[in-house]
Amino acid sequence: MIRPLAAGDREAAVALWHACGLTRPWNDPHADFSRAAEGPSSAVLGAFEDTTLIGSAMVGHDGHRGWVYYLGVHPEHRQRHLGRALMDACEAWVRERGVPKIEVMVRGDNAATRGFYEALGYGLEDVVVYSRRF
Ligand SMILES: CC(C)(COP(=O)(O)OP(=O)(O)OC[C@H]1O[C@@H](n2cnc3c(N)ncnc32)[C@H](O)[C@@H]1OP(=O)(O)O)[C@@H](O)C(=O)NCCC(=O)NCCS
Repeated sequence: MIRPLAAGDREAAVALWHACGLTRPWNDPHADFSRAAEGPSSAVLGAFEDTTLIGSAMVGHDGHRGWVYYLGVHPEHRQRHLGRALMDACEAWVRERGVPKIEVMVRGDNAATRGFYEALGYGLEDVVVYSRRF
């Protein structure tokens, strides 16, 4: 079962993100969760086995593109098409809002995950990403 996560799911989501190796010292996962779960144009979707959170994806849009972050399936539940189901749910969330495109940024050191997106039919864009921290 996949559903949007709420404030009460925050600790389970952060624990899952740690287990999936998705956290970074320069990002506060608790604040990231709250902003996305409570924001008007974003959500955190969670996949459950019974009452246990075993996968999640953060999805949002800026009106032009949808983006997915913090996609992770607990290591004990991988290769069972849960990641695909979460991406399907993100795509549905974006399409329901009339947004025509969905994208994901894959870190340069996460080459293993590229095959996953390719299996889902995602194409590689010729784009360099610049950013600035505040
Ligand atoms: C990426 C991740 C979410 C995939 O979850 P998953 O539930 O194991 O993936 P699925 O079982 O849904 O796989 C869907 C398809 O992708 C393929 N696939 C999955 N991982 C793959 C990999 N590392 N390389 C190549 N193909 C892969 C599967 O074989 C499957 O193909 P099929 O539909 O033709 O059988 C999971 O490995 C994960 O949590 N990784 C750590 C966190 C991470 O790196 N997240 C992405 C950040 S950009």
